[in-house]
Amino acid sequence: MDTAGTLIDCLMRQFPFDVSAEEFVQDPYPWYEEARRRHGPVHRTRSGDLVVLGYFEAQAVLRDPRFGHGAQTAQEPTGYGVPARTFLLTDPPGHTRQRERVRRAFTARELLSLRRTIGETAADLVAAAARSGTADVVADVARPLSARVVADLIGVPEDLRDRFTRAASLLVRGMDPPELIDPGTQESIARARLCLARDIGAALRRPDSSGLLRGLAQDADGPAARAETVATCAQLVAAGYETTVGLIGNGMHALLGHPGELARLTAGGHSEQVTGRTVEELLRFDPPIQLAPRSALVDADIAGTPVPRGAVVSVLLGAANRDPRVFPEPHRLRLDRQPRHLAFGLGSHYCLGAALARLEATAALRQLLRHRPRPTADRVTYSPARVARSVRSLRVRLTPEADARP
Ligand code: HEM
Repeated sequence: MDTAGTLIDCLMRQFPFDVSAEEFVQDPYPWYEEARRRHGPVHRTRSGDLVVLGYFEAQAVLRDPRFGHGAQTAQEPTGYGVPARTFLLTDPPGHTRQRERVRRAFTARELLSLRRTIGETAADLVAAAARSGTADVVADVARPLSARVVADLIGVPEDLRDRFTRAASLLVRGMDPPELIDPGTQESIARARLCLARDIGAALRRPDSSGLLRGLAQDADGPAARAETVATCAQLVAAGYETTVGLIGNGMHALLGHPGELARLTAGGHSEQVTGRTVEELLRFDPPIQLAPRSALVDADIAGTPVPRGAVVSVLLGAANRDPRVFPEPHRLRLDRQPRHLAFGLGSHYCLGAALARLEATAALRQLLRHRPRPTADRVTYSPARVARSVRSLRVRLTPEADARP
């Protein structure tokens, strides 16, 4: 994940908009739109790197094996000159092998028990929050739910759970360019990386390890395999925690900002209508990951725009999801769409946790809507990260008694 920070560091300074501006953090979408209007769906920076703002072009890059990361094993350097360490930044065949190892460890039995945990945890958290009449959707619901699910999935021992989730938030922030992070936070990120790797290493050796840790520990023989396993688990914690918090927080915020859609969703006094389609439109509208980095592994092109080998390609998922060629009225949340968004990426690196994130968001939103949430403030603030995007806090008033059906 930290390699993405290096890449974005080089590139973000050349984006056709000012990523350091506070207004950009709060609402990047008008900036993307203006950039697309001025430069088209693919923008070439002064250094010859590419910024992809269009949906079809983003799709083409993410599916095209000519674009990748430049490393075939976790130890090899990526196209950005730093070791890959995680399979998110590794190309086939190393990527295929590592991804398959993780996919196998997500057993059907584990997923089934997570489904139960998700439903029960969401119901308990929202009921507890509703008793006081107000709640912070992020702190009281999204964070504890997402933390519990990631910890259960990986099999983090109870005594290490708080440390894992604190580290996860910091690792996601570490995907941003260092110059946009104050020195104190940079130090905390570096410490969190070390601490997480140490904790995962220790957890792998414990006989009471469960979940993915147990599955992965079984075939982690030798120092290289152990290092790969530690990196894989760290990536899962980092990739799975803050992103799901973002989906629930950003999603609820989007619904509150579109009272007509919210009313239609809760018509009839119950929140059953929060369906897969609702969550897909929320993912399109304000995705928790805004950028997928790639580099050209050979001379290539993006929809006719030549891309020399070695050029860095930043695929802006948040911009692609608002491409008016694909989504009419892109800046309006419309729950009647069949959105084919790119919030989970596409192609060989397509998000492994997409089904889990969808389950969590559906459960949390259904429970929240049973208590008829109303905003307590006109504005919310987003956390300062640029690559990951999530509402920092979202206070709502809740009706203590719930509508009958979840
Ligand atoms: C709303 C929540 C989530 C969003 C928006 C999200 C988004 C993404 C995106 C955009 C990618 C692709 C990045 C790229 O192509 O460069 C990705 C990959 C990945 N995600 Fe997620 N994710 C979410 C939740 C999760 C969860 C819950 C987990 C697991 C616990 C997870 C695990 C992964 C992994 C392992 C990869 C790397 C796959 C690979 O490289 O083959 N994600 N995610």
